[in-house]
Amino acid sequence: MTQLQDEQKRAVAQAAIRYVPIGSVVGVGTGSTANYFIDELAKIKHKIEGAVASSESTAQRLREHHIEVVDLNNIGELPVYIDGADEITEHLHMIKGGGGALTREKIVAATTKKFICIADHSKLVRVLGKFPVPVEVIPMARSYVAREIVKLGGHPVLRQGFITDNKNIILDIHGLQILNPTELEANLNQITGIVTNGLFARRGANVLLLGADKGIRTVEM
Ligand code: 5RP
Repeated sequence: MTQLQDEQKRAVAQAAIRYVPIGSVVGVGTGSTANYFIDELAKIKHKIEGAVASSESTAQRLREHHIEVVDLNNIGELPVYIDGADEITEHLHMIKGGGGALTREKIVAATTKKFICIADHSKLVRVLGKFPVPVEVIPMARSYVAREIVKLGGHPVLRQGFITDNKNIILDIHGLQILNPTELEANLNQITGIVTNGLFARRGANVLLLGADKGIRTVEM
């Protein structure tokens, strides 16, 4: 990560704070950009009720800041979910899961009114797919899922030494040029043994706060 990317991550994390309603429970993503957001959230923790974490590591960082971590099952719809992305298009379709938290991220996103994506400029792409699409897989289905992915034109690679918070494995799919992310997301969901795939197209972001040369660019859907 370059210094510029790092500065942009910090800037968009700060900018996201204005989307947090007073008295709300906030959905919080995973990764280095989300970590900057958690640090910003800590500064206004007395103004929120708590947060839903999209991973164990995020839950830990929230607790370190003495922000209450709320069980998603104990609340209804979240007003906002703030998270980073590995790639994002102008249509606000994303690849996520570089940190392996895609399943919980997708669950939190599904239960949220407004998904605010915070990203440095390097994440903006015209076509998704240069970043490999992660899929979380039930371990006994690894070979079967890999064969099915090859039929779809992808090259699956096991993420070595990595187990998800849900005790599953990750296959990273290389070599895809994703012209129709909604269709590919649905096709991957059809493969038995895949728990979740890292395409966030059917439920993309509502707002993108993107690091830019001069300040922050906001894209809204
Ligand atoms: C984790 C994610 C992250 O949002 C994504 O990997 C971006 O990470 P970072 O903010 O560190 O660049 O999907 O599963």
